[in-house]
Amino acid sequence: MEIQSSPKSRALSKRKSSSIARPSTKLIISIFSVITILILLRMQSSSTFFSSNDKVLMSKLRDSVTFHPLKDLRYVETATIGNTWFMSSLNDTQEEGEAEHLFFPSESSKGRLLCIKGNDRRDGGKNSYALAWPESLPDSATLLKGLTFVSDTYYNYENLWHGVNAIAPFVGWSLKNDCSKPTRWILFHWGEFRHRMGSWVHNITQANFGEVVVESFPEGGGGDGVHCFEKAVVMRHNAGKMGKKRKLEVFDLLRCKARSFCGVSHGGRGLEVNRIGQPVVRLTLLMRKGSRSFKDPTAVITVFVRECAMVQGCVLEVSQSDELSFCDQVKVMSNTDIVVSPHGAQLTNMLFMDRNSSVMEFFPKGWLEMAGVGQYAHHWMADMSGMNHAGSWWDSLGEKECPHPNNNRECFKFYKEGLVGHNETYFADWARTVLTQARARKLEMNKVKSSHLTSNICTC
Ligand SMILES: *[C@@H]1O[C@H](CO)[C@@H](O)[C@H](O)[C@H]1NC(C)=O
Ligand SMILES: *[C@@H]1O[C@H](CO)[C@@H](O)[C@H](O)[C@H]1NC(C)=O
Ligand SMILES: *[C@@H]1O[C@H](CO)[C@@H](O)[C@H](O)[C@H]1NC(C)=O
Ligand SMILES: *[C@@H]1O[C@H](CO)[C@@H](O)[C@H](O)[C@H]1NC(C)=O
Repeated sequence: MEIQSSPKSRALSKRKSSSIARPSTKLIISIFSVITILILLRMQSSSTFFSSNDKVLMSKLRDSVTFHPLKDLRYVETATIGNTWFMSSLNDTQEEGEAEHLFFPSESSKGRLLCIKGNDRRDGGKNSYALAWPESLPDSATLLKGLTFVSDTYYNYENLWHGVNAIAPFVGWSLKNDCSKPTRWILFHWGEFRHRMGSWVHNITQANFGEVVVESFPEGGGGDGVHCFEKAVVMRHNAGKMGKKRKLEVFDLLRCKARSFCGVSHGGRGLEVNRIGQPVVRLTLLMRKGSRSFKDPTAVITVFVRECAMVQGCVLEVSQSDELSFCDQVKVMSNTDIVVSPHGAQLTNMLFMDRNSSVMEFFPKGWLEMAGVGQYAHHWMADMSGMNHAGSWWDSLGEKECPHPNNNRECFKFYKEGLVGHNETYFADWARTVLTQARARKLEMNKVKSSHLTSNICTC
């Protein structure tokens, strides 16, 4: 073995040896001698790469791999804040402005790989994880090559809003790490195994990373089901501490990739003008059916049609969100400057609008008083994706009164999926304000033209 030192470190050690007393030099020399002797002895005694002593040691290491439950019930009460119950013995890596995450193997895992055992879909406490060195993986383990994205969410992978929040931190990590794409995804909800994403969530993930392989670990398949990962990224706090700048980059990328996937121009709306050179402002009523739909859709449409007709360049479209495929949702929203929609997952599609577009949201009775912070989900979505949340309207009238007036929990359940009424005066005033703002923004864009044209190339 040859030990080289750079001129700098040689100079450094010279300076040290002149300032520090002699004995330390002697000590270094004797340590070196001992190491040299040990190396020589080892070379003599072993013909193969690993000596029999090594083998015994590795077997001991292999046997000492300790599995812990994926879901630690000690942290049930604080699962959404501070301490996570998922892989509770491990601390996140925190980098300024990035989502907290874990990466294996890494310095903090001391070079160990992540291993996961179990595919229980009902009890996360029955699934477990361990760290193991690549040379001493548990006997029954299957090593899965490539990069694995391991996600645990407090919510789910079916709903658009919840799903995109679970995916976003991985997109951020990928942006930071040469646009790396995962070989596979492993999904958990409260430590319980999940083997699929909802189709919208699947589609946006596919648009971003290419083919999506969600591990399904069939029950009773392969050894006792220990899988170790060559490389793994674990996310368990959604976008958590991700900074504003990174969030906007993530959503710019998701928008760009989805548009490209669906064959919509990456540049989006840009500067559309009508026949007489006036900027076009496109207003979309994104309707729902059933729960939280407008009680009288025709009356609502009539108000917006009337206000739109009074603004130069305004074009109105009514779209039934429930009937649109993923790509139709991307197309409709890429072509929208103002979205008008009741509260609901369909509003997550706002992320496909050009940046700075506007959102008008409507709630049925009960939400303002009883829904808590969850009702601001689309304010957060607007914030993350760079949209302008132009406010909400809360219906103050219900169809029926809650039969348990003193029980908030029961009453919220009672009102939660109700229909949304309307107030013509309020809607008209509000529409006028938002349309005026949107038109002003377009006129401003018209003035500074090229500087606002979005690049046609996605970051990844
Ligand atoms: C995780 O962080 C806490 C608090 O900073 C610390 O006490 C603990 O030792 C850390 N655990 C590991 C495994 O690094
Ligand atoms: C969206 O995902 C579903 C599966 O979840 C698939 O059947 C469908 O073809 C996908 N759509 C597109 C446009 O890729
Ligand atoms: C969005 O609006 C902000 C503030 O008015 C402006 O600085 C920014 O350039 C706009 N971004 C785009 C993409 O139009
Ligand atoms: C409708 O909105 C107007 C204007 O904001 C308000 O003055 C009026 O009280 C509202 N009507 C009802 C029934 O809430």
